Amino acid sequence: MIRAENLTRRFGNLAAVEGLNLEIARGEVFGLVGPDGAGKTTTLRMFTGLLDPTEGRAWVAGHDVALETQAVKDRMGYMAQRFGLYGDLTVEENMVFYADLFGVTGSERDQLMAQLLRMTRMEPFRGRPAAKLSGGMKQKLALMCTLLHHPEVLFLDEPTNGVDPVSRRDFWVILHDLVARGLTVFITTAYLDEAERCDRVGLMHRGRLIRCDTPAALKQLAGGDSPTLEEAFIAEIRKQEAAARV
Ligand SMILES: Nc1ncnc2c1ncn2[C@@H]1O[C@H](COP(=O)(O)OP(=O)(O)OP(=O)(O)O)[C@@H](O)[C@H]1O
Ligand SMILES: [Mg+2]
Repeated sequence: MIRAENLTRRFGNLAAVEGLNLEIARGEVFGLVGPDGAGKTTTLRMFTGLLDPTEGRAWVAGHDVALETQAVKDRMGYMAQRFGLYGDLTVEENMVFYADLFGVTGSERDQLMAQLLRMTRMEPFRGRPAAKLSGGMKQKLALMCTLLHHPEVLFLDEPTNGVDPVSRRDFWVILHDLVARGLTVFITTAYLDEAERCDRVGLMHRGRLIRCDTPAALKQLAGGDSPTLEEAFIAEIRKQEAAARV
């Protein structure tokens, strides 16, 4: 459902993403983690057609992102790191706005909105202005807005940043619900407990994908008796930095 071949983006001398090769299957939850500035958002922006690669190619849902941009847009949902909600508009009005944008109207729209509000348990807040929602509720609303055109692939850029642990768990219940219905999810996160919930995790560092495997396999990298994903990642990044110094 998602594929990259030597995907590269440079900004002047800086290689924000360098030679990314990746394949993600239908129904997979793929997590991309890495320190600030590692290149996660740049990767997502190339997959979603918002940013042209300097080199390489990307495919989403079988379509070439550069050549068939509209086909890709029709099949994917993108929740940006700073997703645009309209604070003065209510939950429902924000959803209607995004539905209009995607050309989803009439009874199809009403049914889908009702289903999403139920799934996220946001029904009681449908009339509340977005500016007055809690952080977790805002993220749920943004997620609903990205789901209004039945995407097959979801790209989520740190969707739970700054959200409390209970709301984060809620968010993941919703994600797994969507995956059970056939959605493919590509998510970036700073939370390693969330990375553990992914089928596969990629560790990005200075534009390069330095590791990519199941959470269980990645934990083995750190050695020791019961390493955590956090320990494994910190060890990997230290190794990279030591190698860069010599
Ligand atoms: N439009 C741009 N022009 C110049 N440099 C950029 C641009 N966009 C990103 N960069 C640089 O590319 C690198 C990767 O940035 P990116 O936003 O992809 O990182 P990130 O992994 O998403 O970080 P964070 O966790 O902070 O969101 C950074 O050094 C950033 O400053
Ligand atoms: Mg980012």
